[in-house]
Parts: sequence; structure tokens; C-alpha cells
Amino acid sequence: MPEDVILTARDGRVGIITLNRPKVLNALNDDLMNALGAALTAFDVDETIGVIVLEGSARAFAAGADIAVMANWTYSDVYNSNFITRNWEAIRQIRKPVIASVAGLALGGGCELALSCDIIIAGRSAKFGLPEIKLGLLPGAGGTQRLPRAIGKAKAMDMCLTARVLDAAEADRYGLISRVVDDETLREQTLALAASVASFSAPALMALKECVNRAFESTLSEGVLFERRELHARFATSDAREGMQAFMQKRQPAFEHR
Ligand code: HXC
Repeated sequence: MPEDVILTARDGRVGIITLNRPKVLNALNDDLMNALGAALTAFDVDETIGVIVLEGSARAFAAGADIAVMANWTYSDVYNSNFITRNWEAIRQIRKPVIASVAGLALGGGCELALSCDIIIAGRSAKFGLPEIKLGLLPGAGGTQRLPRAIGKAKAMDMCLTARVLDAAEADRYGLISRVVDDETLREQTLALAASVASFSAPALMALKECVNRAFESTLSEGVLFERRELHARFATSDAREGMQAFMQKRQPAFEHR
């Protein structure tokens, strides 16, 4: 029996996806990226799930696209099959918050996959790099676009042009990731954070994620207008009524995700 290239599990309102090609440090091949896209989409449309966690193994979140497979491809192969766009970009369509939980290596496409997530929590063992230049390639899964937006041009150029690898503390300092925790508590802390976010109103979370992402796609005035319309729309939801009533009544809100 072939091994499952991803594993899925649930913990309350949290959907957990584990990359599972440990022998090749979770190298990202088509089977894995197709399965990842399907799993993300399945959790995204599941009303019992509020937040999705994406994790690898203790040694590697993912060491990049599968070089053994790419090594034989020609331009026609990648152009005709729409490499990357075809399946890697499924994560862009996900409306619920996605949290990357990174231990060990996040290199090349693995780093780019983490950068596509909304929150990145790293264990102290985590290493982030875009070493594609060493292969005569370039960070073509969004890395040249998301990294400078995350850490600025100077640091992004340094990482891309020199293949420099950052440890978790540097990545945290540069703003590439959200938080650093001890490896021993990474899973526990990720799941606790995910559960806490998942307890909030699901439609409010989705609207909020869309607003923040809009900051990268629009002018300030367009982005602020979009945000304002999304804020106004919250007043049409029962969750906003419940959240504010609960505050007034000094009790915890009971969101119905409506
Ligand atoms: C395929 C990979 C792999 C990868 C590791 N492996 N990374 N296979 N694709 N990206 C395999 C190794 O071949 C090896 O298989 C096994 O995983 C363990 O790796 P080792 O090299 O033996 O481990 P170690 O000595 O600890 O070195 C770890 C490492 C090194 C530093 C991460 O494996 C490495 O440099 N990997 C490539 C990293 C990289 O360049 N990533 C970017 C890829 S390009 P065997 O069978 O020998 O045991 C990319 C582009 C995305 O991501 C965007 C689109 C263009």
C-alpha cells in the first residue's frame, strides 16, 4: 500500500493537515499538492471547522518542491501542465484562517507554502530559506512576491540571491513568522491558538482575513473602503449582536457562526 502523502485529523473546530513524506523531508510533489488542495478545500467548506492547521514533521515542515521529479522536466512540461498554478495556489482560495506550524526545515517551496498561510508559528528548530537559486531556479511559488511584502526588499533580496537560511529567532525578528515557541510545545501551543481563533465567529474571521489580504492587493483608500463595507456587514450578523450583548452582560459569547 502506498503511504498517504498527507494525514488529516480534527480537534474540535480545528482541522489538522500533516504533510507526510518524511523520507524525503516532505518534498512537495504533485500527489502531495493535489491532496493538500483537496484537504484544504474540504475543511474550508466544512461548517464544523473554524481554523486549519498545516504541519510537517519534527525534522521538516517541507524541504521544497520535489527536485527528483522536477529534474527531468522541460519548459513545455511545466508550461503545458501549468506547474504551481494548477495545484499549489489552491491555498489562496481558502477563506478560513490557515496556521502553519513549522518545525525543522522550511526551504524553497516549503518556505513559500508557509508564507501562503495566515499565521506561522515556529519551533526553535525551524529554518527558513529560499535556496532555489542554487538549482538554477527561482522561488516561483510566490516567494519573490510574498517574502518582500513580509520582510522588505533588502532582507528578501539577501535571502533569495544568496540562499541564506534564517533560524527561527532571525525569522521572528524580521517579521517572516508570527511567533516562536519551544519545539516540545509547538503542537500544543499551535492547537491551543487555533482553538482560540476557531472559537470566534467564522464569518467574521473570513471577512477579516479577506480585509487583511486586501491590504496587499489595493491602494490604502480602496483597502479602507473594503474594510469599512466589511465592518458594516458585520452588523447584519447575529454573531456580532451576540458578541456585543455578551460583553454587556459580562458573559462569554455563544457564536453560531451566522
Ligand atoms: C526531493 C529531497 C528534497 C527535495 C530532500 N530530499 N529535499 N528530495 N526534493 N526538495 C531528500 C534527499 O534526496 C534524501 O533522499 C532525503 O530527502 C533526506 O535528505 P538529505 O539530503 O539526505 O538530508 P540532509 O543531509 O539532512 O540535508 C537536508 C537538506 C538537503 C539540506 C534539506 O536535503 C537539501 O538541500 N535539500 C534540497 C533543498 C532545496 O533545494 N529545496 C528547494 C527545492 S526547489 P535520499 O533518497 O537520498 O535519502 C523548490 C522550488 C519551489 O522548492 C518553487 C517552484 C520552482
